[in-house]
Order: sequence, then structure tokens, then C-alpha cells
Amino acid sequence: MVVLGAGPAGLLLGNLLLAAGIDCVVLERAARLHVQTRARAGFLAPNTVRILDRHGLADGLHRDGRTHGTCEFRTADGRFRLDYGTLGRREQHTVYPQQNLVTDLLTRYLDAGGRIRFHTEALAVHDADGARPHVTTREPDGRPTRWDARYVAGCDGRHGAARRSLPPGALRHHHDLGVSWLGLLAEAPPSLDAVGYAVHDRGFAGHMARSPQVTRYYLECPRGASADAWSEERIWDELDLRMRAAEHGPLRRGPIIERGVVDLACDVVEPLRHGSLLLAGDAASLTAPAAAKGANLAVLEAEILAGALAEALTGGDDAALDRYSAQCLAYIWRAQEFTQWMTGLLHATPGQDRSGGSFFHASLRRARLDSLRTSRAHQDWFAENYVCLSYTSEYTSAAAPVPTVGRRKIKKKN
Ligand code: APR
Repeated sequence: MVVLGAGPAGLLLGNLLLAAGIDCVVLERAARLHVQTRARAGFLAPNTVRILDRHGLADGLHRDGRTHGTCEFRTADGRFRLDYGTLGRREQHTVYPQQNLVTDLLTRYLDAGGRIRFHTEALAVHDADGARPHVTTREPDGRPTRWDARYVAGCDGRHGAARRSLPPGALRHHHDLGVSWLGLLAEAPPSLDAVGYAVHDRGFAGHMARSPQVTRYYLECPRGASADAWSEERIWDELDLRMRAAEHGPLRRGPIIERGVVDLACDVVEPLRHGSLLLAGDAASLTAPAAAKGANLAVLEAEILAGALAEALTGGDDAALDRYSAQCLAYIWRAQEFTQWMTGLLHATPGQDRSGGSFFHASLRRARLDSLRTSRAHQDWFAENYVCLSYTSEYTSAAAPVPTVGRRKIKKKN
């Protein structure tokens, strides 16, 4: 087995394959230090915690993680809070910096005798349509090499070699959301005890605690904006404006230690299996940023893929591999649908100016926010989709049992 990429998907998959007695090697183009210190989303869904618990990989997050279950929306009509941990399925996130999770997974994998090659860039996956695929790589010293395997797991993200090696027939749904964010990491304590979403005529602003000393902020910015265009003071003044600090209290300022502009987009590759090449994590799909769906989907897909590969490699039965794509796509599309809704809730429709150049869209957004503020049923729906990834059995396999709605069984049509 060759696994491309040492992110959450690749490292969890490597651990589970090793535990199933399957020899695998992880090929990672970056240095170990980079992999272990990359600051990424740190919001683990309950299902993610359950998966890590199931495999004895959750010690770090139980020791250092902390539960979180509140969103605060700030709008022209005031602010309101949703304690989503008391709504829907009454589940909360665990805040645990992703670099800590990646370090936990990497350390366990190496301690268990797992093989990983850092500074080794996969260039392409060859003969994936057969039973003897191989990966060509550029080794740390620049030498070209090849790695032969029965299966290759592409966990190397949306710009990795796995995606580049997909056959022409692979379907890529790509959707540019027309919105860009200036992502900021501030060496400052969180200003709210909630995930903050500010909807403002000047644009969206977001607040997410990363640790007691570090806070992630987002500022919607024009497409093509430069991350260095604004001074720190201008950034904090704009954050104050959009988060309505004058009404709700000042933000806690500090040095901005990281900044970058991201154009919000989402995509899905279908199917996720191409012969002996399987995709998981960002290599499979990318969602708009909302509640760290990407990292949580990566963990979910890695567990499903590990089980299917174990059946194929130790039991010679690849039926589960055949089901892998449909099973994961059901979760992926549910996550896509919710993150699309969330992006529309928080941003003016691209091309429409916020002050209601399209009054119609601005009024729609206002109505959605009002419904979220006042309707318990809407709040339950929000909580379930904001936190959960694991849905009822109808969504977990193509061979799902006859779906039941309410008490009545629906007869499947032939
Ligand atoms: N060869 C080898 N390694 C590669 C290559 C390549 N050609 N291209 C990318 N990689 C490595 C990257 O250096 C990275 O370590 O693949 C890894 C992919 O990891 P992630 O981007 O973290 O992707 P994934 O494991 O799918 O996790 C998905 O986690 O990073 C967060 O929020 C982010 O949604 C994302 C989620």
C-alpha cells in the first residue's frame, strides 16, 4: 500500500492499515517539522472524536482538547447566540489544534513501526486501472524513483499527484463561491467565548478561538486582494467595525502572526475510486470553510477506506472498496449542501453589493438570519448540520436498508 500525503487523512489511514497488519508507506513531500506545525482547523466533530477513540488515538485530544458549543451571530438587527450543544443532537465540537492531532497520529504511526518518507514528492500515479499501480516520485536528493503497490491512497490534497493522475472520465464538480477571505492568526486571547460570525454591509468577519493565547479571524475581502495590503491597525479597526465592537465590546488585539488570502471554492471528485487509486480528504473534496468540515470528512473517509482496504488486502474481497465512493459521497454532499447554505447566509451574493444593490438578496439573508434567531426547528437543523457528519444509515452505504420515514416503511420500487 502506498499512501500519498501525511495530513489527517493519510496519517489516520496509515495507522489503521498498520493496525490491520497491512504494510504501507506514507510519501510526504514536506519536512516532518512543517507537517507537525502547520496551523489548520481545530474543530473536531463528535463523530471524529468517536473514530479516534475507537482506535485508541484520542489521548491527546482528551487531555488537551476542550469542548465548545456556541456560535454568536452579529447582524444589523443585534446579536444572538446559539448554544448548539443544547440543540439538534445536543453534540459539541472539541477544540484541539489540528497540528496537535497530526503530531499524535504521526508519533503513533512511527512508534508502531510505520514507514514514512518526508521530502518525497509524488509526481504521478501510473497504471491505476490495473492491479499493479506504481507511483513515480522525486526523492529528497532529486532522484526519480518508483513505488509499486497493490493500491494507492491519494490523501495528498486537492493539488496533489493523485488528482493529477485521475483518468479523463473523472468528474470534478468545481464551484467558485465568488468570495475571498483574508485569514488572520492573531497572538491575542479570544474576544468571544463563541465562534463569532459577523454579517455586515462592509462584508463578513469571523472569530474562532484556536487556543487561550491565539485567535483566528477572517475578513471578507475583494477578489485579488493582497494579504499585505492592510496595516495591522487597519485590520483591527475593520474587525472592530464589522463585529460591531462599539455595541458589543472591543476585540482583544495582539500581533498578527499569520495572514493569507483564500478564495472560497468547493469541489467534489466523483467517483472516489479509480481502479487501484482511492481518494480521501481534500484530494476527494473541498468544502467551503464552516466548522472544519474538511478535516472531519478526512477522518471519516480514512476510517471507511481503511476498513475497505483491509477487506480487500487481507480477505480478497473488494466489495467494500466498490461501496467506498458512494458511502463517502453521501457525507460529502451533505457537508457541501450545509456549507453552501452557510456561505450564502454570511455573505452578500457575489456581484451584489451588500448595501442591497440587490435589495432582494439582502432581504433574503435578513429573513434567514431572523429565522435562525427565532425558530427552534431551524436552530435544531443548524446544530445537527453544523456539528454532525454521521447521519442515519440511509446515508452510509449504497446498499442502504429501506429508508424509513417516520413510522412507515417505504417499499423500494423495483
Ligand atoms: N507528494 C507528496 N505529498 C504531497 C503532495 C505530493 N505531490 N502534494 C501534497 N502533499 C502532502 C501535503 O504536504 C500535505 O501534508 O499531502 C498532505 C495533504 O494533507 P492535508 O492538506 O491536510 O489534507 P487532508 O489530510 O486531506 O486533510 C484535509 O485537513 O489540512 C486540513 O482543513 C484542512 O480540509 C483540510 C483537511
